[in-house]
Parts: sequence; structure tokens; C-alpha cells
Amino acid sequence: MKTGRDDTILEINDVSKYYQTGRSLFRKTEKKMTALDKVSLKINKGEIFGLVGKSGSGKSTIGRLVLNLEKPDSGSIIFAETEINSLRGKSLKQFRQKMQMICQDPYQSLNPYFSVFDTIAEPLVIHNIGDKKEQLSRVQELLEDFGLSPATDFLDRYPHQLSGGQRQRVAIARAMVLKPEFIVADEPTSMLDATVSIQIYSILAHLKKYAGITFLFITHNIAAARLLCDRIAVLNEGIVVETGDCESIVDNPASEYTKALIQAQPSFSYESA
Ligand SMILES: Nc1ncnc2c1ncn2[C@@H]1O[C@H](COP(=O)(O)OP(=O)(O)OP(=O)(O)O)[C@@H](O)[C@H]1O
Ligand SMILES: [Mg+2]
Repeated sequence: MKTGRDDTILEINDVSKYYQTGRSLFRKTEKKMTALDKVSLKINKGEIFGLVGKSGSGKSTIGRLVLNLEKPDSGSIIFAETEINSLRGKSLKQFRQKMQMICQDPYQSLNPYFSVFDTIAEPLVIHNIGDKKEQLSRVQELLEDFGLSPATDFLDRYPHQLSGGQRQRVAIARAMVLKPEFIVADEPTSMLDATVSIQIYSILAHLKKYAGITFLFITHNIAAARLLCDRIAVLNEGIVVETGDCESIVDNPASEYTKALIQAQPSFSYESA
């Protein structure tokens, strides 16, 4: 299926997602809750697109659907001109290579029993890319690229032997090892302090500029979005309330919900991110 626009890499068309809730030992009936209600978005190649909204607004749900970890109940998601739900076999494997994620809490997302080398090399092993020597050299190159230098000091460490910022750098190196086109970064700095957050943002900005990576950057922090994003969508209870150029939305929000998000943020400085 053609998207009709050359610069669009990802298209979310009228996507809805429902979850069953309320069932428990004491309550047998289920309630259907709407996590996403007819969401439509277009993300351009090479941009950082921000998804901003309060807790529970549906941001991570969009992230999981885009990563093809869950299916929408209706609507379609098109990546590089292909509907992702139709992917099977080899094309699904290729999709998994092109689309990577960085999570909120690298301590949970990294396997505690895997060394830094094993963590970053695992996708190469799964996809059968390179021999051991080539894998080592790729991992070392990535560690140096992301400020874990000298790389030999980090290869044999385990997640508990790293700081939060270093763990997130390892998670970014793992996400980059297969040379992806698109990264979903779900609140990648919410466990980090302001200074380390800024360092992680500059790595993401660098990857956009020099590696041409497109990002879906999920955050509850509109100040962080303003620092990093080209365009944003503001999400409230599963509905997109406004979308467009990040600076114009922050400087001139159309909806009361966006105004409230901005007011909840102490200031728009690097320190507040
Ligand atoms: N697997 C699930 N089962 C039932 N309800 C779910 C499930 N996943 C998400 N939800 C519900 O869907 C809504 C959206 O959740 P989501 O995790 O996408 O929000 P979010 O914007 O990422 O919030 P946060 O900022 O807290 O991470 C919430 O009400 C949540 O409780
Ligand atoms: Mg979330």
C-alpha cells in the first residue's frame, strides 16, 4: 500500500485499541476501556516526533502498536509503505531489524545475567550477522560512539555495575547494533537526573542528524519534547487533541489540555528536562 508521500515513513490511520478490565477473583464481569480512539498520525523520515500526554493517555500503547508487539482493534499502521500487521516470515524479521526500542527503565529492560558485550551483540547473534570477531568490533565501536570509553573497560560488566546513564547508553547501543531506521524511545530519561537526561537527548539528536534515524519519542514532559522534537502530537485519554510543529504548539497551544500540560512544567530550560 502506497502512502502517497515520499517523506512519510510511518502512518497511523484511524487506530483504536480496547482493553478488557475489571475482571478479578471477586468480579467476573469485564469492562471494555478505550486506550486509543481513532488515532491518526504521520511521521516523516528523519524527524523526532513526540507523543506527549499525561499518565494513562495511551502513549505507550501507541509505541507497542508501532513496534508490532500488539495489534490494533481497528485501523492500520503503515511503515515504509507496508501495513505492519500483514508482515510474516522474512519481511517481519526485516521489520524487527529496522524498528527498535529504548525503554523507560534500562535496569528492567537489560538482562541482569548478560554482560555489556552479550547485551549489545545479542541482536547480531539472533539475526546471524558477522562472526564473533566482527561482532566484538561492532560492539566496541558502538560503546565508544556512545561515550562508554575505553570500550574494553565496559565489555565484561553487568547491568548492576553501571550507572543509570551508562545503562541507558548500553540500551541505545543495543538498539543501534542492527542499524535500524526507526526507534521508539518510551520515556527514555524518566529514571535519570536532569544532567544525564540532557546527555541522552544529545545522543538521540546526534543519531537523528548523523545516522538519519527517525524517532517516536514518548514523554509526559512537554519541556523535554520542546528541546528534542520537530513535531508532536498531544494525547488525552486516547484521543489526539492537537498535532503539528513542536515550537508552535508549545508557544501557542490550541487546547486547554495542552495549556495545562505546559503550566504543569516548571520552566522550559535544559534544567527542567
Ligand atoms: N495490557 C493492558 N490491559 C489493560 N489495560 C491496559 C493495558 N495496557 C494499557 N492499559 C490501559 O490503557 C491506558 C493507556 O495506557 P498507556 O500505558 O498507553 O498510557 P501512557 O500514556 O503510556 O501512561 P504512562 O505515562 O503512565 O506510561 C491506561 O488506562 C492503561 O491502564
Ligand atoms: Mg507509558
